[in-house]
Amino acid sequence: MTAFAPDVVESYREAGEILTTVMEESRAMIEPGVTHLEVAEYAEDRVRELGDGLAFPVNISVDEAASHATPARDDDTTFDDGMVCLDIGVHVDGYIADAAVTVDLSDTPELVAAAEDALAAAVETAGPGVPVGEIGAEIEAAIEARGYTPIYNLSGHGVQQYDAHTEPNVPNRGVDRSVELEPGQAVAIEPFATDGRGKVGEGSTEEIFELVADRSVRNRTARQALEQIREFDGLPFAARALDSSRTEMALRRLSQQGIVKGYPVLKESDGTLVSQAEHTILVTEDSTEVITAGLFD
Ligand code: CO
Repeated sequence: MTAFAPDVVESYREAGEILTTVMEESRAMIEPGVTHLEVAEYAEDRVRELGDGLAFPVNISVDEAASHATPARDDDTTFDDGMVCLDIGVHVDGYIADAAVTVDLSDTPELVAAAEDALAAAVETAGPGVPVGEIGAEIEAAIEARGYTPIYNLSGHGVQQYDAHTEPNVPNRGVDRSVELEPGQAVAIEPFATDGRGKVGEGSTEEIFELVADRSVRNRTARQALEQIREFDGLPFAARALDSSRTEMALRRLSQQGIVKGYPVLKESDGTLVSQAEHTILVTEDSTEVITAGLFD
């Protein structure tokens, strides 16, 4: 028995190729004066044009923000001299490619190199039967070798059809964990490096949501929002993707009722910088395949 059906491998490869193309185009747009929203919308439009859809909203996390940041509908924030993590997810028939690069406008190249070195070491180590803690140890060592700290409470993760976040968990530190990578798993490996203490907490901004328990609602605005939310196939979506002037109220109601879950921005301490590098790999019977290869060439 092979690890992946041939058509599944083809979908993953296609998702990876689309993602690589869109990432290269989008990262080239990031420069001072350009808005986060311009880049996010460009990337999201391109993903929809080339593939079946987004696996999650484009994440643009600047400076101490590490993850789950995406512009609001009316957001006019521009890039300045920051450290920009650009994280994009593409799916083809539900099969997900998830990757991230860091665009450095802050003149801190060693921090970017720390995350990229860590990713290269992790991908090199990964394979069927390899304990996830061993991959984490490689990540930690590579980041520390550049004089920085990995973010310990963020980790890589498996992806499955229409599921952007599943087992196995791949830590960004050398933990003693016996879980091993298995053939048939698609895994997003994503080291984060920082000049902070290596721990993110939740910020107050929340722009990314996910349908977690679909059931009927009485309120008309919430019901209309829920109808649109179902179109995302259970994948995370941005508040700005909903076509309603009363989106905020609808999402608040749906969250209160446990129908929708919000993902607050995850950030390090103020004044710190965070870099990220991410690939999605397929674990095969005797090896691995990087479906987003080419991103860091
Ligand atoms: Co990602």
